[in-house]
Amino acid sequence: MRMKEITTKEFFLLSGYIKEAYGINLKEEKKALVKGRLGNMVTQQGFQSFTDFYEYLVKDRTGKASRDLVNRITTNHTYFMREKEHFHFFQQEVLPALIKEAGTPDLRIWSAGCSSGEEPYTLAMLLEDYFKQGKKQWDTKILATDLSENALAKGKEGRYPAASLSPLPESWKSRYFAKVPKDSSRVEITAALKGEVIFRKFNLMEDRFSFKKPFDVIFCRNVMIYFDEETKNKLVQRFYDQLRPGGYLFIGHSETIDRRCSPFQYIKPAVYKKG
Ligand SMILES: C[S@@+](CC[C@H](N)C(=O)[O-])C[C@H]1O[C@@H](n2cnc3c(N)ncnc32)[C@H](O)[C@@H]1O
Repeated sequence: MRMKEITTKEFFLLSGYIKEAYGINLKEEKKALVKGRLGNMVTQQGFQSFTDFYEYLVKDRTGKASRDLVNRITTNHTYFMREKEHFHFFQQEVLPALIKEAGTPDLRIWSAGCSSGEEPYTLAMLLEDYFKQGKKQWDTKILATDLSENALAKGKEGRYPAASLSPLPESWKSRYFAKVPKDSSRVEITAALKGEVIFRKFNLMEDRFSFKKPFDVIFCRNVMIYFDEETKNKLVQRFYDQLRPGGYLFIGHSETIDRRCSPFQYIKPAVYKKG
C-alpha cells in the first residue's frame, strides 16, 4: 500500500488541531515529518486521505483517534541521567536545602513530560542513594506525567535495554534493576523502585491544574522546546503557581525562560527558583 500524500491544507488542519490541543507547534517545514509519522496509520486504518482522518479525529468521542495521534506525533526521546549536571546540582544543593526547610518529612517532585520513565526513575534512584537508610522516614513519591499513553506504558512496565544503563553507577545497576526472564538484552526496574514513581496521563495544556498540594521541585525538560513563546510563558507561570515558595523548576539545557515575563529567580542555566 502506498503512503498517502499530505496537502498543505491538510497539514494546517492537523497542525492547528495539535497546537490547540497539546501546545505542540509544528511549523510548515515539519510537513514531511507529519506525513512520515501519520501516513502509515492513515492508510492502515482505511482512510482515503488525511482530511478523512482529520474529520474522524474532531468527531471521535472514544479518545482512540487522539490517542493514536499523540502516540505518533510526540517525540519521546529520553535516557537515564540525561543532562547529568542537573542531577548533581539536585543532589548536592537542592535536596539539602529542601530538607532543611521542610516542615514535614515529605518531598513532592513532578516530572512533567516524563516520556518512558528514565527521568523519574533517575530521580527515584538518586533519592534512594541520598537518603540511604533514612529514606523510610520520608515520603518522596515522584509524580511522572505525559501525554503519550505508549510512553507511559513503557514507564510503568519499567523494562529497558541493558545497554541504556551505561550512564548509571554500577551500584545503582545492581540495586535497582533485575534480570528479565528469557531476555538477556533487557533489564527491569525493581518493584520497590517502581513503587516510588506514580505514572499518570496529563496534558500540560489542561485548563486546570488540580494538584492537591504544591510541589517542591518540577522537572519539565525538553518538553517546552515544542511550544511557541506564548504557550511556554503561560505554562511557566502555571508551574510557578504549582510550586511552594523556595521550590525549583528545572528545564532542558537548550531552553530558556524569558526573565522579563516570569517571576522565577534564575539560579544557573536551566534551573529556576520560586523566591
Ligand atoms: C523529548 S521528551 C522529554 C522527556 C524527558 N523530560 C527528558 O528530558 O528526557 C518530551 C515529552 O513531552 C511530552 N509532551 C509533549 N507535549 C505535552 C503536553 N502538552 N502535555 C504533556 N506531555 C507532553 C511528549 O509526549 C514527550 O514524551
